[in-house]
Amino acid sequence: MNLPGAPKRRTVLRSFYALALLSGAYLGWSSFDSGSRQPIAFNHEKHLGMGISCETCHPGVDGSRHAGITSVKTCVTCHQAAQVSDPEAKKLEGYLAKGQEPPWKRVYHLPPLRYNLFLRPYASRIFFSHRLHVKTGGIACAACHGNMKKQSTPLSFPRKPIRMERCLNCHRTMKISTDCIACHH
Ligand code: HEC
Ligand code: HEC
Ligand code: HEC
Ligand code: HEC
Ligand code: HEC
Repeated sequence: MNLPGAPKRRTVLRSFYALALLSGAYLGWSSFDSGSRQPIAFNHEKHLGMGISCETCHPGVDGSRHAGITSVKTCVTCHQAAQVSDPEAKKLEGYLAKGQEPPWKRVYHLPPLRYNLFLRPYASRIFFSHRLHVKTGGIACAACHGNMKKQSTPLSFPRKPIRMERCLNCHRTMKISTDCIACHH
């Protein structure tokens, strides 16, 4: 049997599916990319453009392993003084009134402990310290996190993924230990 319309319909159907798939992928990616996972549309570019230092909002970098994110109080104190009325910024006052911190989602992660079949860890915990790199080593944030001055939407994924090869490359160049045990405890 010869159905003249059939092949055409199939092509149309196929391109429809392809289009649906592509646009689905695009929409998925763009909402992922725009930092929709974060509770507030924070803008690094804008804040860094005002000359605020990283340490003001990530107070742990000098003194501890974790950089952390400052409390909502710091944000609101400055916003009230500067009379910021942007609705996204106003959300912060809601959190402050409820005594809550915005549920910021972690983006940069060292991999967690992983276990084998016998429930023994097969990859050990990795030691990393901000204090050691930023304060003692004098390494710029951008070496590991890229240029945050160009980040106008909240992060959804690392600008620079954490890879052992990156750690090792710098350690080799700077003559810092590359013994497994320096990082894997
Ligand atoms: C040598 C690489 C390196 C440098 C330099 C560095 N970081 Fe990090 N940063 C990391 C790694 C690795 C993690 C993930 C750590 C973890 O999972 O415990 C991380 C995580 C973070 C986090 C989220 C988790 C946390 O620790 O609270 C923030 C915020 C952060 N860094 C900010 C900064 C800032 C600000 C600077 C500069 C003052 C900086 N970092 C410098 C490697 C670096
Ligand atoms: C040193 C003062 C200062 C601190 C600290 C500060 N902000 Fe802001 N923020 C501003 C100013 C000023 C504006 C208004 C910028 C404008 O309208 O151009 C602003 C605007 C905003 C906006 C509106 C969005 C936008 O793109 O204009 C958000 C959201 C925001 N801040 C979140 C935060 C959060 C979250 C913190 C704390 C982690 C924080 N800010 C800490 C000064 C500050
Ligand atoms: C005014 C406050 C403020 C300043 C200044 C600031 N940050 Fe942030 N930072 C935030 C907030 C709020 C988040 C969480 C939302 C987001 O991802 O945008 C964050 C997230 C991050 C993260 C991802 C943390 C994670 O969960 O893994 C990194 C890395 C980071 N900032 C680096 C920097 C660096 C580097 C600087 C300085 C060049 C800087 N920040 C300056 C408020 C700030
Ligand atoms: C851009 C360069 C650079 C990168 C990238 C880097 N490091 Fe380092 N690291 C240093 C420097 C410099 C020191 C030495 C600090 C000091 O003076 O004690 C150091 C020290 C260390 C130490 C202590 C070593 C010792 O012998 O005391 C550990 C552990 C460590 N880094 C882990 C990491 C991990 C894990 C990563 C990747 C996530 C990483 N580093 C990425 C530069 C770097
Ligand atoms: C300067 C720090 C550093 C040193 C030194 C280092 N590693 Fe790593 N290693 C890491 C980081 C960070 C990760 C996690 C990121 C990744 O998987 O790339 C990792 C991941 C790994 C993993 C993958 C774990 C998993 O579950 O996927 C293995 C295996 C590993 N390292 C083995 C080694 C061995 C063997 C040595 C010594 C020859 C070594 N590492 C030295 C930082 C280091």
